[in-house]
Amino acid sequence: MNNKPVYLLAIESSCDDTSCAVMCDRRKLSLTTAGQSVHQAYGGVVPELASRAHQQHIVPVVHQAIAQANIDKKDLSAIAFTRGPGLLGSLLVGTSFAKSLALGWNIPLIEVNHLQGHVLAHFIEDQTPREIPEFPFLAVTISGGHTQIIEVHSPFDFKVIGQTLDDAIGEAFDKSAKILGFDYPGGPLIDHWAQSGNPYAYNFPIPKVSGLDFSFSGLKTSILYFIKEQTTKNQYFIDQHRADLCASIQHTIVSILIKKIHAAVAQTGITQVAIGGGVSANSGVRNALKNEGSAAGWTTYIPPFEYCTDNAAMIGIVGYFKYLEGQFSAQNISAQARYPI
Ligand code: KG4
Ligand code: ZN
Repeated sequence: MNNKPVYLLAIESSCDDTSCAVMCDRRKLSLTTAGQSVHQAYGGVVPELASRAHQQHIVPVVHQAIAQANIDKKDLSAIAFTRGPGLLGSLLVGTSFAKSLALGWNIPLIEVNHLQGHVLAHFIEDQTPREIPEFPFLAVTISGGHTQIIEVHSPFDFKVIGQTLDDAIGEAFDKSAKILGFDYPGGPLIDHWAQSGNPYAYNFPIPKVSGLDFSFSGLKTSILYFIKEQTTKNQYFIDQHRADLCASIQHTIVSILIKKIHAAVAQTGITQVAIGGGVSANSGVRNALKNEGSAAGWTTYIPPFEYCTDNAAMIGIVGYFKYLEGQFSAQNISAQARYPI
């Protein structure tokens, strides 16, 4: 392999964000993402609406990413795309588009596992220098679709040591928020209201799940029953106690997470903890990680928010590592809704 820079176009469309990035080696040259507000009224992502919106967004998003990168299409060395896991209809839009581009431009195609993207997002470079984890490290992926603790020994050597048995951590935030009457996604609103509330006002149960796995569905049920009981007695209960409720819910979810990170560090002896996924934006998670981390001697990494949520730069970084290894895909490759890391 010579040392010519690798220019790569990456496409992400696994859920409700249509995203395209242009990378030069590990460096992000541009990143354009179109979100989908159409789901707000439904309390969650509606798969059929998501795939239609991807179809509307993908051409302008790709055009804009190429224009902002200020490169010539002829310089591109390969196209990387998210093959899975995710919503099949959404994945199909990005997969078909990437395959067509690779065919039309006669350059290699590289399939990427979305979860690997979240883990390796720490290695994306941009104008702002920042510390990156050294191998091995513990990757903690926390989002609306995923909750995993992974031992990472190299860009291609992963061992999942803990994951959710039911809801993802972001779903725990969003479903609790829905019970309190917030629109989807309610996670950021819980975070907002929690700032002015008492985290010890209400006690919600911490699930007893052995090992490093998580469970969040019991928490959602206990919040639901608690709110039902209280609103029967006082119909204004939520309005009168919104901040305390949000602070207590957030405190419980964060405690569940931090407990498992402690257990993972104890089990593996690895003290580098790198978190990613949309829930890394949560102020409770950030503060707890910082405080617990410095008390326990962990080195913690949180990438900038644009690389925490679903984005194509994280697909591009995996694509780059695969390009260096010559790991290309054939044109008959198909999207895969279930795709373990
Ligand atoms: O990574 P992401 O954009 O998409 C998925 O792959 O799911 O994560 C979205 C999730 C949603 O559940 C959203 O409520 C949650 O991240 N989220 C937050 C915050 N910001 C985003 N949850 C709690 N507090 C926040 N500040
Ligand atoms: Zn994701």
